[in-house]
Amino acid sequence: MARTNGHVAKDTAASPNGHSTNGHTPNGHSANGQAPNGHGPIPNMRRAFSNLQRSAPSRYAHIVGWGMDVPELIITNADLEAVVETTDEWIRTRTGIHERRFANDRETVTTLGFEAARKALDRADMLPSEIDLIIVATSTPENFYPSTAARIQNMIGATHAGAFDLSAACAGFVYAVNMAVQAIRSGSIDKALVIGSETNSRIMDWDDRATCVLFGDGAGAIVLCGSDEPGGVLSCVLGSDGSGEDLLGVPTVGQSSMPEGRQMHKVHMNGREVFRFGTHIINESVREALDKANLTLADVALIVPHQANQRILAAAARSMNIPESMFFSNLHRYGNTSAASIPIALCEAEKEGRIKPNDNIVLVGFGGGLAWGSMVVQWQVVPKKAVTGMSHRLLQGRREAEYVLAFWRGRVLRVYRRLEAVIKGPPTQANLRGKRRSSDAAARAMSTPKKAEPDKTKTV
Ligand code: COA
Repeated sequence: MARTNGHVAKDTAASPNGHSTNGHTPNGHSANGQAPNGHGPIPNMRRAFSNLQRSAPSRYAHIVGWGMDVPELIITNADLEAVVETTDEWIRTRTGIHERRFANDRETVTTLGFEAARKALDRADMLPSEIDLIIVATSTPENFYPSTAARIQNMIGATHAGAFDLSAACAGFVYAVNMAVQAIRSGSIDKALVIGSETNSRIMDWDDRATCVLFGDGAGAIVLCGSDEPGGVLSCVLGSDGSGEDLLGVPTVGQSSMPEGRQMHKVHMNGREVFRFGTHIINESVREALDKANLTLADVALIVPHQANQRILAAAARSMNIPESMFFSNLHRYGNTSAASIPIALCEAEKEGRIKPNDNIVLVGFGGGLAWGSMVVQWQVVPKKAVTGMSHRLLQGRREAEYVLAFWRGRVLRVYRRLEAVIKGPPTQANLRGKRRSSDAAARAMSTPKKAEPDKTKTV
C-alpha cells in the first residue's frame, strides 16, 4: 500500500486457487523477500506472515442472500430548498444526488435493518434460527448498547446467533463482511447475517448546507454461508488513517469538551479533503484487493462502491482508466446512506441484471476514520439449492412462524424477568450473607496452596 501514514490490515485472501501465482505476495513484495524498495528484514517477516495467512482455505464464504429497505418518505432537492439556502441545480451538479429517503418517527436503524434482513433471509431461503452471527455496521445506532444487532437478533428470532455492532463509518459494511467471512473460514461459524443500516437524517447539522444535502437513510443486508465450493469472497484489504480524524466525524458524549465549531451528534466534514481522499483510495484499495485475488481490472464485471458523490466516482474512474459505467451508482435516488450504501447498491445492481453468476465484482467503501476497505467477490458460484413447490412454501411458512414466535418470545421473556424479580424480591441481607460465605469459601480454596504433585518425569 502506498500510504505510509496509515495502517493497513490485510486479511487472508482466498484467491481463486488459494495461493499467489504471480510470485508476489499481496503486499507487493517479491518472492525473494525483498520489498520493491529493497528494504530488508521487516518486509521478510511480513512476507512470511502473509504467506502463512494465505494458505489455501478449506472453507469459502459465499453471499447467498441479499435484501434492502429504504423509508417511504422521499426528500427531493427541491424540498431541501425550503430548509437550507441551496438549489436543485447546485446539488445535482456537485454531487449527482436528486433525492434521498428520510426515516419517519417510527423508523429506526433497527426497523430498517430488520426489514432488510428479512428480505435477505427470504432470498437465501434460510431460517433465522440457522444464523450463527449477526453484525450490524452503523454510525447512527439508537443506543451505544444494547447493540442494533442484538435488537435485530431478537426481532428475527435468530436464537442461536451472537450479535454485535461495528463502527467504521462508510467503510463499515466491508469491514463487517470481512469479519463474518473470517469467522466462517476459520470454521467457528457457518452462516452470518451482515447488515448496514443508517438514519443519517437524525445527525444532520441543518446549518451546514455543504453537508446536510448529501445524506439519506436506508438499510441493506446480506447472508453469508460457508461452503467447500471455491469462490465467494476472494480477497479483502482494510485500511485506516486516524490522522484524518478531523476531516469527517460525529462528536458524541465521550468528549471531555466539545471542540470549537462542533456540535454533539451532528456531522461535520471537510468536503474538499474527503473528496480528495475518496478518489485516490478507491483506486489504490481496489487494485490492492484485486492483486490479492490474482485478478486485474480486466477480470471485473462491476465495482459496487460506497455511494458518496458521483464526481468522486467519475474522478476515480478517470484515474483507473476505466469507464465510469463500471461503477454502479444509485446515489441519485438515495444520496449517501453511509454503511448502508454498498448493500443497497448491491441489491439494485443484481436486480437490474448488472451482476451475473460467476461475475467478479469489487465492493469498495471509504469514509470517516479515515477508514477504507475493498473486497473482491465471485458472485454466487454456489448454485442455490432448488427448493421449489411445496417444500419452498413450507420453509417460507416456517420462517414466518419464527418471526411471529420471535415477537412473542421477546415479550414473554421480559414478563418472565419481571415476575422472577417480584417473586425472588430484592437481594436481602440473608441472601447476601449466604453469597458472601460461599465466595469466602471459594477464595480460601483458591489461596490454599495445593500439595505439589510428585514430578513423574524426573528420574533418580
Ligand atoms: N448549495 C449551494 N451552495 C453551496 C452549498 C449548497 N448546498 N454548499 C456549499 N455551497 C457553496 C459554498 O458556500 C461555496 O460558496 P462560495 O464560493 O461563495 O464560498 C461554494 O458552494 C463552493 O463550496 P465548496 O465547499 O468549495 O464546494 P465543493 O465544490 O467542494 O463541493 C461538496 C462541496 C461537499 C459537494 C464536495 O466537497 C464533496 O462532495 N466532498 C465529498 C463529500 C463526501 O462525499 N463525503 C462523504 C464521504 S463518506
